[in-house]
Amino acid sequence: MTPPSDGRRFDPSPAFTERANVSDGSIYEEFEQNWPECWERAADLLEWQEEYDTVLDESDAPFYEWFPDGELNASYNCVDRHVEEGRKNHAAIRWEGKLGDRRTYTYQDLYREVNEFAAALRGLGVEEDDVVTIYLPMIPELPIAMLACARIGAPHSVVFAGFSADALATRMKSADSEHLITCDGYYRRGNAFDQKSKADNALLDLDASATTVVVDRLDESVGHVLADRQHDYRELIRSRAGVTVEPVVRDAGDVLFVMYTSGTTGDPKGVVHSTGGYLAYSAWTTQTVLDVKPEDTYWCSADIGWITGHSYGVYGPLALGTTSVMYEGSPDYPDRSRLWEIIERNAVDVFYTAPTAIRAFMKWGQQYPDRHDLSSLRLLGTVGEPINPRAWQWYYEHVGNGECPIVDTWWQTETGGMMVTTLPGVGTMKPGSAGPPLPGISIEVVDEEGEPVPTGESGYLTVDRPWPGMLRSLSDDDQFFEEYWSRFSDPDNDEWVYFSGDGARIDEDGYVTVLGRVDDVLNVSGHRLGTMEIESAVVDVEGVAEAAVVVGRQGGHGGTVHAYASTEHGYEGDGELREQIVAGVEDAIGPFARPDRVIFTPELPKTRSGKIMRRLLEDIANEEELGDTSTLRNPEVVGEIEAAGRED
Ligand code: PRX
Repeated sequence: MTPPSDGRRFDPSPAFTERANVSDGSIYEEFEQNWPECWERAADLLEWQEEYDTVLDESDAPFYEWFPDGELNASYNCVDRHVEEGRKNHAAIRWEGKLGDRRTYTYQDLYREVNEFAAALRGLGVEEDDVVTIYLPMIPELPIAMLACARIGAPHSVVFAGFSADALATRMKSADSEHLITCDGYYRRGNAFDQKSKADNALLDLDASATTVVVDRLDESVGHVLADRQHDYRELIRSRAGVTVEPVVRDAGDVLFVMYTSGTTGDPKGVVHSTGGYLAYSAWTTQTVLDVKPEDTYWCSADIGWITGHSYGVYGPLALGTTSVMYEGSPDYPDRSRLWEIIERNAVDVFYTAPTAIRAFMKWGQQYPDRHDLSSLRLLGTVGEPINPRAWQWYYEHVGNGECPIVDTWWQTETGGMMVTTLPGVGTMKPGSAGPPLPGISIEVVDEEGEPVPTGESGYLTVDRPWPGMLRSLSDDDQFFEEYWSRFSDPDNDEWVYFSGDGARIDEDGYVTVLGRVDDVLNVSGHRLGTMEIESAVVDVEGVAEAAVVVGRQGGHGGTVHAYASTEHGYEGDGELREQIVAGVEDAIGPFARPDRVIFTPELPKTRSGKIMRRLLEDIANEEELGDTSTLRNPEVVGEIEAAGRED
């Protein structure tokens, strides 16, 4: 799992540094000397309706309040002010559809449609602080819906379109959300997929009936029926043509959105982000780390259904008034040149993607990027999982032509924005290591007792000072405390330490190498999944007695899910049960969580206290040397599991 550093170093070129938004390394010291007021730099990127006096209120820690007396509206900041500043005809979103269709929204177009949809949502009874669930694929109506919600002060909860009906229903119930925005279906690899029936199935599961807006994405031949309380998006927009809605004044601490993510418990947790701190932080990191300038064309390839798409596909770039590219499809449809063709045609300046995608590009071969003119690129970025030096090098040479710095950015749904990365115009890059913490961010790698570990040794990655993009809470305050602040904090002395759930080590230059999760969360090809979530779907299948799920990462490729299961008396661990398990996981979560391997075993390896030893299964799955097995109650199962794995 650990990307070995190959010891090579790379510096940004003078040509890049000269134009970089930040090129002076004194920013680190400046932020240190002037903390927390240094964060006014981030807040100053926004237009406030009521200026804040206080930067940070720590009195209710760990419920920190950033810019507590400030007031603003996120939709105003991402749309209206660019129109008012005379940039109304500047492209805000350049959208590339799966089938080759394209749409460009200028800031004026965005202004019009966001207003019309905000008016429509109000008309449907959406009030300030009502949570609106958005279940849409990568079509322009997704960011428009988010901004329309922000305009009327209704927090959005975007659920990735690939999630199943069950997963959607769980999230809607947890957020008490009675409003849903979805679509009839979408295209994947040229085929039409039905989304509405998944949404309808989820709605059947809710106690109250929800108001639904349906975007017509498929052509008319597919068709769909709207039931009571279901409304057609286009008709709603048409009926509000030209209507404007005054942006609602929100406190900085008011909720901008909720984003569900996997945690150590069975249920996904709703991470709550604030309006002021979050928006300031996503704009600031987009400017300083991704070096985005208003005149750039910038592309973050992440789906908006995950946090990367929220912070760096929508809020950060639009707050800065740049042009954000949005692509609906997969990187290999209709062929493996698709992304490079999009970069070439749009003359993309900055490209931000995930290591799992880079590894796929590598596998396909350099002939695809080589065939395209990628000389518009100035900077490359990666996020989501550790990037191994070989993939880094390939990205650097074949996409960046050896001229673009790469920012390897470590952060999480909870942090709202980037935390650890080099600043591209300042820092030396070391492939395999994300870099130092950003200015103003304080990272500590600690041992079990919370004591800092010596340089170069691994430990737990913690953050011991608050930052503006931090989650405000979870939908459940107790869980918030338990998940992040209980392990290394000292509440009696009012010392609060945020635990990320990741392991890491720091080298002599202060560079952080992230080693991956140390808790029961899996990172599968950049998607975060809870072992408990998948395991509970597996044990829900009739005939399964017990299950454990681990991640396999053979061949340096993105993670795959391995499920180990024992059967109930009278049931056979056969092909049929295996299929039922796979289908069970797809129904409960979605196809992307599907186990690649299901291995039946008479018993799972357990410690004397009865805990399943997942680490051991992970070693077996990855054909690594087995760690310490002396605490096992049933050491004899190890050989049986290895044999079952070989047979499978
Ligand atoms: O394990 C870390 C990994 O992704 C986790 C966060 O996942 P999520 O909340 O879904 O957000 C993904 C996008 C921000 C982290 O706990 N991770 C993220 N970025 C990196 C990383 N691991 C290593 N290096 C990174 N650059």
